[in-house]
Amino acid sequence: MAQDLREWLAQAEGIGYLKRIDGADWDLEIGAAAALNAKRKNCPALLFDNVTGYPRGNRVLTNSTSSPNLVALVLDLPQNSSDMELSNALRQKLPEWDDHLDQFPPVMVEKGPILENIHSGGEINLFEFPVPRWHELDIGRYIGTASVVITRDPDTSQVNLGTYRIMAHNRNTTGFYISPGKHGRIHYEKYHARGERCPVAISVGHHPLLFRVACIEVAPGSEYNLAGIIGREPVRTLTEEVTGLPIPADAEIVIAGWCPPGKMLEEGPFGEWTGYYASKERPAPIIEVERVYHRNNPILLGSHNDLPPHDETYFHVLVKSAMLTNELIQSGVPDVRGAWLSEAGLYQLIVVSIKQRYAGHAKQAALLASQGRVGSYMGRYIIVVDEDIDPSDINEVLWAMCTRSDPEKDIDIIRRTRSSALDPMIRKPSTAYYNSRAVIDACKPYEWMTEFPQEIRIDPELARRVREKWGDILLCQ
Ligand SMILES: Cc1cc2nc3c(=O)[nH]c(=O)nc-3n(C[C@H](O)[C@H](O)[C@H](O)COP(=O)(O)O)c2cc1C
Repeated sequence: MAQDLREWLAQAEGIGYLKRIDGADWDLEIGAAAALNAKRKNCPALLFDNVTGYPRGNRVLTNSTSSPNLVALVLDLPQNSSDMELSNALRQKLPEWDDHLDQFPPVMVEKGPILENIHSGGEINLFEFPVPRWHELDIGRYIGTASVVITRDPDTSQVNLGTYRIMAHNRNTTGFYISPGKHGRIHYEKYHARGERCPVAISVGHHPLLFRVACIEVAPGSEYNLAGIIGREPVRTLTEEVTGLPIPADAEIVIAGWCPPGKMLEEGPFGEWTGYYASKERPAPIIEVERVYHRNNPILLGSHNDLPPHDETYFHVLVKSAMLTNELIQSGVPDVRGAWLSEAGLYQLIVVSIKQRYAGHAKQAALLASQGRVGSYMGRYIIVVDEDIDPSDINEVLWAMCTRSDPEKDIDIIRRTRSSALDPMIRKPSTAYYNSRAVIDACKPYEWMTEFPQEIRIDPELARRVREKWGDILLCQ
């Protein structure tokens, strides 16, 4: 598989999933075009060139994984699959990738395209790239929205990659927002507790696979390996001169510097994945940039959020649903048909479909889904349905909820669970980001499920016959 973003672009173009936009303004137009594009099922990736005020060749890429065939291209899955086929293929691959994480560890190289241009001191200017102002109420221009932030644990030396938003405060200072408990934050907090500055390197243009392994909750230290096993070849890294961190040798743009203790600048508001500017403005840590590396004609990788569906939602639903299904099965919940995050709410609306085996089975599945690795962050509603309900079909799910649950006995509330500053329902400023979870048992009541009214389903054989006879009138396929 390609490691280089440019090879990947050629592949995306080859399958008809890359479109070029000429002459957009970095100020809001790139963001708006990416947002409108993401509202269409099967949308292409967009490559913006000739951006207002910038020389041709200095480009921005968005929507790199907003549709099924692009996700398949990034994760090496079959093209032209349905959502469920992709999810099932992923469910098979996840444990294989986990078991073979050490097969393709990153390799250290001396040279790479990222070294084509190196800036330090007064030459550094983050605005030499067409950094978008993505949303109308953003506090400023965000250079990192699909970033790979590279940090090292000062205790264990483990290197972590995480996607965190990066604001360009001025020519040589960025700010970043990392939620409590995420690895990049734990790392800088450890340095700061010792009174030391934290070394940070940030790639803001790279193969979408690197972005995707950085933004999912995998074991710290395993992201480069995961990219290696998915791509079936080691990621080529080289040692960044100032921080000593391993940066991708084939990246497009890398920023490196120090996050000092005690120095903060206002960060936010910024348009977030929930569809709101919820975290507002707060002081946040900064990075004093000491080096900028970039390829000739660099490509900035971006991702735009607004009301769903947006750039992010399809990938997250697919990958996290597969992860959650496997997680529930591994934790011992029997007969899980599938779990699904919704594009409308991502973690905030999780559906689990089970074949009920015993009293309390639905509640067990719901509680584990709400507090596991995938579902514990910023969740809100967990709905459990029977096995005849397709968890990815929101109409079927809501029908089951309307007809198989009684609010008085089937909704439980779990209080003081993990949320985040991004939660629009938490009034700011706040010192502790708790929310609650509603667990909705929308399965037929276990004790009389065999007597439950029979649903009206059209027999598949009858449906086939009728389609065959009058398909042209019924517009059935
Ligand atoms: C496009 C995108 C932007 C993200 N921005 C942030 C962010 O600004 N801050 C944050 O804490 N998490 C953000 N996340 C989520 C983290 O990337 C994700 O939780 C990841 O697992 C963090 O890595 P870690 O588990 O190694 O800390 C973002 C995810 C995506 C897909």
